[in-house]
Amino acid sequence: MRLEHIGVAVDAPDAAARTFRALLKATPYKTETVPDQGVRTHFLDAGAAKLELLEALGEDSPVRSFLEQRGEGVHHIAFSVPSLTATVEQLRAAGFELLSETPQNGADDKQIVFVHPKQTHGVLVEFCAPRTPDWSPRRIARPHGSVSAFVRGPEDAPPLVVLHGAVGSTRHETAPLIQRLESSFRVIGVDLSGHGDSALPDAPLTLDLFAADVCAVLDALDVPDAHVVGFSLGGGVALHLAATRPERVRRLAVLQTTVSWTEAQAAQMKQRLALDALEERAPARADRIRRRHTAPTPLLRRVRAFVDTLPAAAQALADGRLAVTAPTLVVAVDRDPLFPLDDALSLHRRVRTARLTVLPGTRHAFHALPLDALLPPLHTHLTASARIAS
Ligand code: CO
Repeated sequence: MRLEHIGVAVDAPDAAARTFRALLKATPYKTETVPDQGVRTHFLDAGAAKLELLEALGEDSPVRSFLEQRGEGVHHIAFSVPSLTATVEQLRAAGFELLSETPQNGADDKQIVFVHPKQTHGVLVEFCAPRTPDWSPRRIARPHGSVSAFVRGPEDAPPLVVLHGAVGSTRHETAPLIQRLESSFRVIGVDLSGHGDSALPDAPLTLDLFAADVCAVLDALDVPDAHVVGFSLGGGVALHLAATRPERVRRLAVLQTTVSWTEAQAAQMKQRLALDALEERAPARADRIRRRHTAPTPLLRRVRAFVDTLPAAAQALADGRLAVTAPTLVVAVDRDPLFPLDDALSLHRRVRTARLTVLPGTRHAFHALPLDALLPPLHTHLTASARIAS
């Protein structure tokens, strides 16, 4: 169990956000309406836990009566638990009265339950656990089978495509980023051909094929153009799409991506993608790969062959045969063991419309990205309206 967040009831969220920005240098990274609770929540990152600013919605909002009776202030403290069912049982057995019979839907993809404050010294205590969100894919037909897309967030929000890395998938890799972006964007997670839920074609995997996957998904959703965020291989696909189909890309962000592939890097990457060797070196990772993809063994074989084509593909961007004109945010971690910082600097130099953010990090893995540090610059980049002067 750990302290997850502190709920603070506020009269005017804008004014409260200004105050907390001055106080903590933190701005709300996510706003979400929770109809079940009669609130709109604004989350701030406050280090070890979050702050949840609570704005009353509707006449019978419990937060409205709290504000009327007691004014602004701390409303509840919330602890995260692995299983809400088990916690509810323990609380009932210990004689605690809960405010609802069963767990309710809360903000941030969580199920929540409150303990009556008369039994807890006037402190309203929430317990929360991750809800299994709806990650059922839409399957979009491609000549070789189907690709899967996971669409989340408001339909009228700006569309944003999120692309995973080599041998990654939306559900098992980029989902946490999607959840952090889905209140501001219509987020479209795409499982690239052969990855996750998407069919593996008989033909070789190429950047053109992956870029066409994205276009097929956008066509099926009737989205003419979108922001695109990609990690590693996904970043390479995003750059290729922006260079070859510029009309489909608004703004681009590439995370831990290189376009300066050397033969040595390609060899190193291929080593990471050899399932037999992984079996010995990292059995847990090998097992995850087997479970997460439709056809893991052929997928890895194809991705290794694909990696061989990358030094030549990178050359096309390097020598100007392919040019990216969309405003681009290049995000690197300072000690990426696979792509040295020089690669990010060189990408930043080559794309004339690029900005650069370097985050502290020592791993080449999506789940190791410090999302709390990534979100503010990413958000600023994607919501900026001005073109970056080239
Ligand atoms: Co809460």
